[in-house]
Amino acid sequence: MATKPLTGHDTPGDSCTIVIFGASGDLTKRKLLPALYNLKALKLLPENFAVIGVAVTDSNDEMFRSQITSDIKQFATRPVDQAEWDDFAKRSYYISGDFNSPDTFAHLGAKIEDVRKTWNLPGNVLFYLAISPSFFGKVVEQLGNAGLTKETPDTWRRIIIEKPFGHDLQSARDLNTQITSHVQESQIYRIDHYLGKETVQNIMVFRFGNSVFEPIWNRRYIDYVQITVAEQLGVELRGGYYDHSGVTRDMVQNHILSVLSLVAMEPPASISGDSVRNEKVKVLEAIRPMEPEEVLANTVRGQYGAGLIGGKNVPAYRSEPDVNPASNTETFVAMKLNVENWRWADVPFFIRSGKRLAAHTTQIVIGFKRTPLLLFGKEVQDDFMPNRLVIHVQPDEGITMDIHAKRPGPGISIANVPLDFSYNEFGESTAATGYETLLYDCMIGDMTLFHRYDSVDASWRIVNPILDVWQALHPRDFPNYASGTWGPEASDRLVAKTGHAWHHYELKK
Ligand code: BG6
Repeated sequence: MATKPLTGHDTPGDSCTIVIFGASGDLTKRKLLPALYNLKALKLLPENFAVIGVAVTDSNDEMFRSQITSDIKQFATRPVDQAEWDDFAKRSYYISGDFNSPDTFAHLGAKIEDVRKTWNLPGNVLFYLAISPSFFGKVVEQLGNAGLTKETPDTWRRIIIEKPFGHDLQSARDLNTQITSHVQESQIYRIDHYLGKETVQNIMVFRFGNSVFEPIWNRRYIDYVQITVAEQLGVELRGGYYDHSGVTRDMVQNHILSVLSLVAMEPPASISGDSVRNEKVKVLEAIRPMEPEEVLANTVRGQYGAGLIGGKNVPAYRSEPDVNPASNTETFVAMKLNVENWRWADVPFFIRSGKRLAAHTTQIVIGFKRTPLLLFGKEVQDDFMPNRLVIHVQPDEGITMDIHAKRPGPGISIANVPLDFSYNEFGESTAATGYETLLYDCMIGDMTLFHRYDSVDASWRIVNPILDVWQALHPRDFPNYASGTWGPEASDRLVAKTGHAWHHYELKK
């Protein structure tokens, strides 16, 4: 069974030219090229297409082709078919230039036109901004000034913008104003690679494709929700970016709040376009921004010290390359959020994310309330956990439901038994980068899985007051957790305050 996009389309995307800004960068090598190649192998890339790489690095079409040929050998997620790849490579071009210079964009315009004529392509162009966020506004402005974003009734021009969209609420607003003076919202695809993950898309299918869950998906039956995105990696070579960002901007403002809104949203009127986005933004708007005292009570930040990961010593965050040795940047965050609407009032949503934690796992836990009567006696019942649904986003993608069953034998003894659904055992799974669905959706004009500006703004409104308090109050205890642990102890205390505990993460296998 081939991977099908969420929207159910199985015909190739529209013929187009794909322009990748940042063509010599890591994202292009590791994710975008393999994803485009996978789409080609799945016959979801249009038969007639071209790729133009743009970067500052001096290079030319031939050198670019040989570069991507060696990159694909290293980063492909499926065996590379020589004939398919040769076709891909010969349709690939390159131009170098400074993103600040109008000449680069005049040159790009001429190249798009040349390539269009060579392959008899329509005028559709997908621009992918795989570049430093500081260039997002500038590049869109230059594209606009060069007339490259102009659509006609028969041709589209779309721009995929990577995260982070803004550094805070005000800069996100400024960036949006700058961009939307050149392009319409309908041309802007703000990408979030978490929404390309199979298991994240499955949240909607799970909730709205089954009739058993929706009636209990509310405050009457659900006790709490936990979302954990834990990494074992440190900042690696991204210290320069990360030290100005921190985990709250890097993970919470985008990926985690987006996943949370899929878990908490009302059923949409339809599964595509604005219906889903309308419901997602309502969830974010129902999370009231915290007052300063609430920030102190409901959030915990941390920074990793040295420690052991997989039996190896790893350095403290402050000793990582390009990180300020006295840095106050948080590499761990935990918070309690409340979605203040009729469905979720009083149900705590605990979220946490961090680098250099004890495990690499992304899981969503839905904790159900206890049964109303302790029919089997308090002692027996105290022994087992209330029902719990765990969505394993990665690794070991799947879903587990913990239920209770009687142990075989005389007397009543009850055990927790997991009902397990694993993606590994679910037909043939196709190795993917997570970018396939998103690139394909852009080519067919489906914006469902991309962030509309109102949700970006709503997320910043949640996160900004927290960052403001943290900035005003320097953390006195950093580093406050050792690498290889589950973060600072205050994170356990945060959850314990409401009588809960973090779900103990065991990887499924
Ligand atoms: C990126 C963050 O958006 O997501 C990284 O910038 C983080 O810091 C990464 O490591 C995690 O993504 P994934 O898909 O590996 O969970």
